[in-house]
Amino acid sequence: MNEHRCVVIVGSQWGDEGKGKIVDVLAEDVDIVARYQGGANAGHTVHVGDEEFILHQIPSGILHPERRCYLGNGVVMDPFQFFEELDALTARGIDAEGRVGVSGRAHLLLSYHKVLDRASEALRGTGKIGTTGRGIGPAYEDKVARQGIRVADLRDAARVEASLRRAAERVNSRLEFMGSDERVEADGLVAEVLGIRDRLMAISVDTGRVIHDALKAGKKVLLEGAQGALLDVDHGTYPYVTSSNTTAGGAGLGVGIGPTAIDSVVGVVKAYTTRVGAGPLPTEFPSPMQEHVRELGGEFGATTGRPRRCGWFDAVVVRYAARVNGLTGLAVTKLDVLDTLEELKIAVGYRAAGQEMDDFPGDLGLLEEAEPVYETLPGWQTSTREARRWEDLPEAAQAYLRRLEELTEVPIWYVSVGTRRDQIIHVERSH
Ligand code: IMP
Ligand code: MG
Repeated sequence: MNEHRCVVIVGSQWGDEGKGKIVDVLAEDVDIVARYQGGANAGHTVHVGDEEFILHQIPSGILHPERRCYLGNGVVMDPFQFFEELDALTARGIDAEGRVGVSGRAHLLLSYHKVLDRASEALRGTGKIGTTGRGIGPAYEDKVARQGIRVADLRDAARVEASLRRAAERVNSRLEFMGSDERVEADGLVAEVLGIRDRLMAISVDTGRVIHDALKAGKKVLLEGAQGALLDVDHGTYPYVTSSNTTAGGAGLGVGIGPTAIDSVVGVVKAYTTRVGAGPLPTEFPSPMQEHVRELGGEFGATTGRPRRCGWFDAVVVRYAARVNGLTGLAVTKLDVLDTLEELKIAVGYRAAGQEMDDFPGDLGLLEEAEPVYETLPGWQTSTREARRWEDLPEAAQAYLRRLEELTEVPIWYVSVGTRRDQIIHVERSH
């Protein structure tokens, strides 16, 4: 791992696997952290000492002094959220302003995207996706429809003003058509965006060039994914997904380097499973286990505060995520949440339409009726929070983790046993 210079960190379930903490730990050793997709829908919670930081738009690596942090072209950037987070960090004594940059090719996510996000969800009625309401879908729609506004476009004030006025018109006719009462006010929008123009232009860079040069100079780079593999617009549980490629294939694309520049891909997985928002979750706990594990794990969304849906570890999901991401190592998080449980189940396959399946289906209908086939392992019923080496873990916990490795066919490189920076095990490959 130490010789790996360009490492991708991806969520390998439905997001909230604890990427923020793993990025924070790995950032110890790198020069650059860059996000490659998503926007302020992400919620990365990082604990430093007794302090808790929740970041939505800025990469979690920022909490280390001297790391440079970038948003790649694949990100949809909410500039107001970005500067709000930057100012909040500064107010808490973290000097971040001179260490951040955003790709000139990144698309801006503006207030009207959030209005459209809410209006689309309202229109979907019972078929709601359960989005974070951060405007992500509409911002990517504009990008693909070739009508988005990019960071670099701000250089020409007259041009960006014209684009914003056209956008306001377009959005208002769409809102009217959708039966929404909300409207975008063009003058206010223009004033707002031009108000941050200088500050934004000052941090606009070519992230592909920056990362390429850094790698050439022997520096280390971490590419930070948001959300998880099962929320990928291509490989996830479509349509219950986010609007970007969360998987490792999106990493090079989303910062502007080629796949051959990447040395390894670390998949972050929780020792169990969670999902926030609508869509299938085969191993979802029934009540009261659902509420019990949610309490133990503090499973409430960092962005929306919504209770997360919880379930057993699903090896079908993670084996699939391992394949579509090309995972080279796993980081298992929140092992300590399972400390008090008597026994643990792992889904090793599904049964649906009278058939056994060992792979994750692309057919949502099949997935919705899939019944997991479980394997049961004994719990360890002792605290793992003080473990700092593999040998410190109780035998039953070691057996559980080894089984996850076997089933997913990916070696475990890290185990996280608590929220603090020091509660991490760097697994030596001898076991
Ligand atoms: P959107 O990304 O806001 O459009 O939401 C689409 C789906 O992705 C919803 O189910 C959200 O709950 C989910 N989602 C988006 N971002 C995250 C995240 O950072 N963690 C977990 N789920 C997320
Ligand atoms: Mg999160």
